[in-house]
Amino acid sequence: MQRPNLCIAFPVIILMLPMMVFSQVRTIMELDTDWRFQKGTDEQAYSVDFDDSEWEHVTVPHDWAIYGPFDKEVDMQLVRIEQNGEEVATEKTGRTGALPHIGQAWYRNEFDLPAFEDGKKAILLFEGAMSEPKVYVNGEKVGEWNYGYSYFYFDITNYVSKGKNTLAVQLTNSELSSRWYPGAGLYRKVSLIVKDIESIAQWGTFVTTPFISDALAKVTIKTKVSGEQLTLVTHILDKNNDTIASNSSNHLFGNEFEQNLAVPNPKLWSPESPYLYTAVSRLFKGDKLKDEIRQRFGIRSIRYDAKNGFSLNGKVRKFKGVCLHHDLGPLGTAVNTAALRRQLSILKDMGVDAIRSSHNMPSLEQLELCDEMGFMFLAESFDEWAKPKVKNGYNRFFKTDAEKDLVNLIHATRNHPCIVMWSSGNEVPDQWGTEGAKRAKWLQDIFHREDPTRPVTVGMDQVQATMESGFGALLDVPGLNYRLHLYEEAYKRFPQGFLLGSETASTVSSRGVYKFPVEKAKMKQYDDFQSSSYDLEYCDWSNLPDDDFVLQDDKPWVIGEFVWTGFDYLGEPTPYDEMWPSRSSYFGICDLAGLPKDRYYLYRSRWNTKEETLHILPHWNWEGREGKVTPVFVYTNYNSAELFVNGKSMGVQKKNNSSPQNRYRLMWMDVKYEPGTIKVVAFDKDGKEKLTKEIHTAGKPYQIKLETDRIVIKADGKDLAFVTVSVVDKNGIFCPTASKQLKFKVKGNGTYRAACNGDATSLELFHVPTMKLFSGKLVVLVQSTDLEGNIDLIVSGDQVKKASLSLQSVP
Ligand code: GAL
Repeated sequence: MQRPNLCIAFPVIILMLPMMVFSQVRTIMELDTDWRFQKGTDEQAYSVDFDDSEWEHVTVPHDWAIYGPFDKEVDMQLVRIEQNGEEVATEKTGRTGALPHIGQAWYRNEFDLPAFEDGKKAILLFEGAMSEPKVYVNGEKVGEWNYGYSYFYFDITNYVSKGKNTLAVQLTNSELSSRWYPGAGLYRKVSLIVKDIESIAQWGTFVTTPFISDALAKVTIKTKVSGEQLTLVTHILDKNNDTIASNSSNHLFGNEFEQNLAVPNPKLWSPESPYLYTAVSRLFKGDKLKDEIRQRFGIRSIRYDAKNGFSLNGKVRKFKGVCLHHDLGPLGTAVNTAALRRQLSILKDMGVDAIRSSHNMPSLEQLELCDEMGFMFLAESFDEWAKPKVKNGYNRFFKTDAEKDLVNLIHATRNHPCIVMWSSGNEVPDQWGTEGAKRAKWLQDIFHREDPTRPVTVGMDQVQATMESGFGALLDVPGLNYRLHLYEEAYKRFPQGFLLGSETASTVSSRGVYKFPVEKAKMKQYDDFQSSSYDLEYCDWSNLPDDDFVLQDDKPWVIGEFVWTGFDYLGEPTPYDEMWPSRSSYFGICDLAGLPKDRYYLYRSRWNTKEETLHILPHWNWEGREGKVTPVFVYTNYNSAELFVNGKSMGVQKKNNSSPQNRYRLMWMDVKYEPGTIKVVAFDKDGKEKLTKEIHTAGKPYQIKLETDRIVIKADGKDLAFVTVSVVDKNGIFCPTASKQLKFKVKGNGTYRAACNGDATSLELFHVPTMKLFSGKLVVLVQSTDLEGNIDLIVSGDQVKKASLSLQSVP
């Protein structure tokens, strides 16, 4: 096919991250402790003299709704979900998680500025506030911001004074404003930055490299400042803190410095080798140091073109990505670095190399971790433009706020090496009509204006409409959500020469739950409101993982996929949207507790190319199914395997092209259940035996077992250990159907934070120290205090031996 000469080449960029800085010239104070919180609409709560002594003490980040109770009346939505192809409106009970996030609330904090004086500037920075925050300092309103996912700041220099100052924030969450659990409150960091009036601007740094070779990278750092007759001195340090490049400039163009530095033998950033440098920029007036920023950064190049699709650092690759909502299961939306790090570690082991922050701005903590741990990032902004999906959604603000929301997203995050693409929207109803195409262009132009180094996509579900209207043709990267049957046509009709699977699969399953007969099914419902982990169930609009794999493997012009979703999330309990008490999703590759479902190993078998995968399903405890057909599936990177039931061979299965499932899974459909042992021996392409695995029928629950992700945590009052709790029989064999009620106790210098069992229908509250096992497992989160020392977790239950685990918290 004749292609127009269309190529989007994005210069190599060197990127810089904001970090906590305490120098003699700039202070960043995180306002995390000593907050007072109250739900309600108290009109006077902004004033300095207001008596908040009876209010609840909380720390920020904080999600006021996660403590429940679950209630089907919360935000019950009588809606017809158009995107899901629904014809009539029905009552959706758990759509936004059934947690009490609707309403108003206040937060108040007193902060001390002992040395504030003339010539200083104070910036109040919010990394997200859910939602519609109105901000008051010392009784005066300093500003407001509508979108709950935006980062924003106010210059509060004229509102603060030396000594004590009072901050009050009012938040309002409307009903019918979200399609998932949005959380509630000051769920991301709040910081106060005090610096000289003559200083580096907030988010004022932008770094690109117009040239890169093995020998050097030319680094261009643009830095916005306030003040005159200033000199900016920048040093770049490598991992060992050795200075490798320096520049000093006193040429101010308007309010901006432009510095060029040469980094010799640059080590490029990639998911496999996430090398980060550090840059130190110092602003001087004469000899006087005025400001200083110390930051990490990475160097990498990205390119998207019709010939090769996507390349990173000159190497063609496809995104092995997952979409993530922002909630952290039992923690709600209150951002937590330990929880994010654990999520990413689990995904790393699965072989994931990219994350999409669906459908809004990611937390800065997540971006920092992706820089460090090596994940590419698709940073999204909106789920709605001017046309509504939900009555009180972002459509209310789009026309007035979209530009400033995007500008803040770009300015706050454009220096993260992980971000390789922006998204201006997800399945926006504006895909229909010419107005929509104009909006797509307007938003894309804002991205290009603020950051010419990265392309822009939109996750499109109305693919036919976007082919007609020109909407899809104008995007840098056409992103298709599902609609596999339209990939070929879209590829032919769109000019870009490549397509992204911006959202794929939406397969549904419940961890450890298997349904019979085993068959492919759409929108399948069962009496227990669970979905089968044979991984054959999906939605009206979606598909199975294997169907995506076929396109990814066979079409060089498909540049990768972002699976819906890496983890289950609160809200959107499809296919049980109308069934109470379903209140969280079934889409996750891992459940709400972060425990891998079987699907995890299907993706791992193809994405983790370094380690072997051999996973057997279902479990082998089927009392009552003796003699009945109980198919066995194996997910492995190997080509074939032989299955044995109690020593008897069930034959060899080999991957083949007879169907997408046969191409990527090994399936023994006729196995009849008998208790005992099933064993699988995997062979490589040459028939050589490579790996063996067995699972056994378990006896009665005998003892509780605890396994932690970390033994040593930080004594900062925020760090978490995630302890997986299961029950084993007398021989130590995992009991996969155990559903015992367990109790948790934490002693020493730690606290019980939450528990989660991954059951989408459970109404047990996460913060109460008791919970039932679901499919034999749950996860307990133990949090550090500020004190170092030992922490003991004790887990007990009826008629089962209790277990304890010792953790350590260190400075
Ligand atoms: C998509 C949508 C996601 C989620 C998903 C469920 O259409 O973009 O937000 O709703 O469907 O399958």
